[in-house]
Amino acid sequence: MPRPNVPDRRDGVPLPVVLIGAMGAGKSRVGQRLAATLGAPFVDTDARIADRYGPIDEIFTREGEEYFRIVEREVVADALREEAVISLGGGAVLHPETREDLADLPVVWLQVSPKAVAPRLSGGNRPLLAEGGLETWKAILEARRPIYEALADLAIDTSRRPVARIVDDITGQLGGTR
Ligand code: S3P
Repeated sequence: MPRPNVPDRRDGVPLPVVLIGAMGAGKSRVGQRLAATLGAPFVDTDARIADRYGPIDEIFTREGEEYFRIVEREVVADALREEAVISLGGGAVLHPETREDLADLPVVWLQVSPKAVAPRLSGGNRPLLAEGGLETWKAILEARRPIYEALADLAIDTSRRPVARIVDDITGQLGGTR
């Protein structure tokens, strides 16, 4: 018999499991490895947006951030219905409906220090960091910190730890929850 209200679990980790956090925190890198470890699909909402609507920096330039947040919400709402490891763009949590969705799901907040994130950001083409670079990154993080904090079931610093250790922490701490 199907049990509709019981979340799917892999290694005791309920699916979907959602990764949030600032730009460069390692959401895609950790998400891919976590998905491989759990034998679950991996969904990167930024990649889905780019597949459907074109490169993210071009969406920002052509249509602006407000439009980007609308298409982002559409993609995120679909993704959160999948039994997968889901990596959200850093600003996806700004949408109130996404915050409502996340309240019922296991959420991992990936953190990173400014020093560790600096090389990860260099050479990237994130539109919000086009002006101000690392200083802008810090300001955006401080503005969003209370949101990340409120949503997170688990917070993990990715600054200096190998991906395999981070994944072990997530499976160890979320396995058997909920
Ligand atoms: C954004 C983060 C980006 C991407 C877009 C906006 C943000 O994703 O969605 O550039 O507002 O923090 P990553 O967090 O994967 O870099």
